[in-house]
Amino acid sequence: MKITVVGTGYVGLVSGACLAEVGNDVLCLDVNPEKIRVLKEGGIPIHEPGLDQVVARNVAAGRLHFTTDIEEAVRFGTIQFIAVGTPPDEDGSADLQYVLAAARNIGRLMNDYKVVIDKSTVPVGTADKVRAAIAEELRKRGVVVPYSVVSNPEFLKEGAAVDDFMRPDRIVVGAEDDQAINLMRALYAPFQRNHEKLVIMDVRSAELTKYAANAMLATRISFMNELAVLAEKLGADIEQVRQGIGSDPRIGWHFLYAGCGYGGSCFPKDVKALIQTAAGAGQGLKVLQAVEDANDAQKLVLVDKIVRRFGEDLTGKHFALWGLAFKPNTDDMREAPSRVIIHELFKRGATVTAYDPVAMDETRRIFGDDSRLSYASRPMQALQGADALVIVTEWKEFRSPDFEAIKAILKSPAIFDGRNMYDPALPRAAGLDYEAIGRK
Ligand code: NAD
Ligand code: UDX
Repeated sequence: MKITVVGTGYVGLVSGACLAEVGNDVLCLDVNPEKIRVLKEGGIPIHEPGLDQVVARNVAAGRLHFTTDIEEAVRFGTIQFIAVGTPPDEDGSADLQYVLAAARNIGRLMNDYKVVIDKSTVPVGTADKVRAAIAEELRKRGVVVPYSVVSNPEFLKEGAAVDDFMRPDRIVVGAEDDQAINLMRALYAPFQRNHEKLVIMDVRSAELTKYAANAMLATRISFMNELAVLAEKLGADIEQVRQGIGSDPRIGWHFLYAGCGYGGSCFPKDVKALIQTAAGAGQGLKVLQAVEDANDAQKLVLVDKIVRRFGEDLTGKHFALWGLAFKPNTDDMREAPSRVIIHELFKRGATVTAYDPVAMDETRRIFGDDSRLSYASRPMQALQGADALVIVTEWKEFRSPDFEAIKAILKSPAIFDGRNMYDPALPRAAGLDYEAIGRK
């Protein structure tokens, strides 16, 4: 099949490369010429494990191409995926300007049947807006060209994106005409394994499904985070509680890890957007508002612990910070708890030396040339001259550090662990004060 992917970011590039991997001809379009230049020169603009090999293999096979030429992109694919960003607007609702610009481009330039697929996370009703935007462009041109609009939200996780796309739990398709449904079945046939993965439903339900999934997962995390704070107050241990409830199959093991708050490009913005959608429909979502409030508070939990130890005024204090990305295996810094923590430390007069295996370039871009933030090239190097260590992302390389060495370097030997990485007995045995999230 000939497929165009509009938007070559985390979702667009992974989708395009994986669809090429199963034999399709794929053209990825982006309005950012720098991204396309890097890709054309054989680079990858993001850090995503395994993606470089899939891209290289399919470029070499002549199945995966990149362009900034909108006309070429619209003419290329019968299938047109829209995978552009949907960032939060000022009020938290999803900003659809990029999605609708992509739709208008398609309407302006298409000459034959297209299936336009909303892969971006978009609020209920967006497919209707995309349909109307295309219709309006066709009307202006005075032509009639057939097309279908489909909702096909993406559930991949950063850091495991290639695997998630190649081996999906389910593929949600919101479509209401047979031609589009048949094409979607054919498109995803290579991703079907032992059982039926395609869940076909009406478009609005598909749009809501994406938000429901992210909101449910965010709710689990915020609930565990609040319980962790409570556990500390009651002298209980959230890790033991997690094991006690995760073993109930009705609850399950996933997404029960308490920490210093969820971040990333999806949960924070999708929770906000669903709250706005619900408010617009006159149906407030009290639970979800609480999820968001709890997460905002959770990003401050480590700072509260630091203040309890060192006092509100942190002038002259220096902190080592391990982990910047919102989670391991990505360089994505969108809504990363580290950003809030660094700002809060700065606000109180402290300085920071950070280490992250892949997200330091992105952090430099965000914080610019700020003398209060320096970078180390190795985890232990970040500890030089530091009062204490703060851990924000659970990268594997932080799993088994030399606690004795950490104790010897830190001026005020304490670890503030926002990801519950260690058995508390280990750092404590080395003479370190160990503060985690909800641990005894
Ligand atoms: P991203 O910011 O990494 O990429 C979006 C790309 O679209 C950018 O490169 C931008 O230059 C490009 N773009 C914008 N307007 C364009 C246009 N008119 N034509 C061509 N290109 C255009 O975003 P992302 O993280 O890939 O997310 C894309 C969508 O997928 C969002 O709606 C997001 O919520 C959703 N999503 C993201 C993830 C994730 O883990 N990142 C997972 C599931 C769903
Ligand atoms: C999420 C969804 O999982 C994915 O299905 C969707 O397509 C996009 O949004 P992503 O943002 O890449 O994926 O990462 P995810 O692994 O879900 O983690 C999100 C945040 O939640 C991270 O900050 C992570 O640290 C935090 N988290 C996750 C917890 O705090 N506890 C957990 O138990 C799990």
